[in-house]
Amino acid sequence: MGEGATFDPHKSQNARLDGTGRFGDKEMALSMEPLAMAEPYRAEPLPPRDGSLDVSANHYWHYHRLEALLACKQPITASQDEDLFIAVHQICEVAFHQMIGDLERTLAALAIALDAQERPVGDTAEACYFLERVVRLYEVVNATMPILVSMRAFGEFRSAIGPTSGFQSFQFRHLEILSGVAAPYWRGGTRDARGEVHPAEAEFDRRYGTQVAGWLAKHREHNLAHYYRRLLERATGAEVQTRLAALFTHPGATCLLRLLFRYEQQQTHFHRGHLALAVRQLAMVGASAGTGGTAFQAYLARYQREVEPLFAGLGPEDEGASAGVPGGGSILGR
Ligand code: HEM
Repeated sequence: MGEGATFDPHKSQNARLDGTGRFGDKEMALSMEPLAMAEPYRAEPLPPRDGSLDVSANHYWHYHRLEALLACKQPITASQDEDLFIAVHQICEVAFHQMIGDLERTLAALAIALDAQERPVGDTAEACYFLERVVRLYEVVNATMPILVSMRAFGEFRSAIGPTSGFQSFQFRHLEILSGVAAPYWRGGTRDARGEVHPAEAEFDRRYGTQVAGWLAKHREHNLAHYYRRLLERATGAEVQTRLAALFTHPGATCLLRLLFRYEQQQTHFHRGHLALAVRQLAMVGASAGTGGTAFQAYLARYQREVEPLFAGLGPEDEGASAGVPGGGSILGR
């Protein structure tokens, strides 16, 4: 097992992802273990932000804005499956929204922990608290998306929905940038034989291009992958594996590395699970291009080819994951 022997990895989480997203009982129990050794948090009651609010009228349906929320699901056709198609995307987008907020909190806490005098890292409890939540939400996304695998009526509404495509998910791009995707690998993915981009991409760039450029600039050195590299730099050892082994003797670093591993596992799971879903559904409707205009099989493999791994040396366990890393191989994967 080499230098990682001090760390007792979650074996199941190193297993090759098979797209089912299912956890066994033992693994579930492990995943429920508190990961961070946090100081007790004192939760003091806060007043409503708006002092004039009549909280006696704050009923469940009002507080969670249920009527407005449910009114957001508006199928274009009479298909009895289109509502599910929209609902699954909306569930994922609501999860993405929460993940972005929690990932921003994680990064702020990481910046402080990695600026601390203490080596290899200061207190990581805050970062682990928020990152664990992000991982659990990613699990929700990855458990929700496959509901569409068995959807039988895509052909009823696909031709009616225009250029809409997950390719245009600005929240997903934001998440990717926060996690450390430094180059917009998706750009030009919809180019046709004449070199023209599809309206799905042109319109996305017109509407969100400036924001995306802003995120890329803001997070160039403020993202998970960057802080993972900073953590490695602060550990002793000549090679990545030696440094990781040293970090796994430190509880705060261990908690963080386990969560980063799980985060990347979920991100990889998303890309591969989604590719399998698209292959299945597009085969059912006999399409060779996505509604967003990509030759989807080649395009959807881009992330794997051009970006993975985010955290070199840590996993996930697959042949290419740590290619080029001195001392290569995944310490968690053995
Ligand atoms: C029937 C279900 C689905 C099909 C057939 C499908 C198909 C596709 C295809 C073909 C693409 C490539 C772009 C294009 O040409 O349109 C794509 C991209 C994408 N889809 Fe889906 N999708 C489905 C469900 C979902 C769901 C539920 C989500 C959750 C938000 C999602 C999120 C994404 C994202 C984020 C991308 C961009 C991925 C990347 O750039 O690597 N998709 N989808």
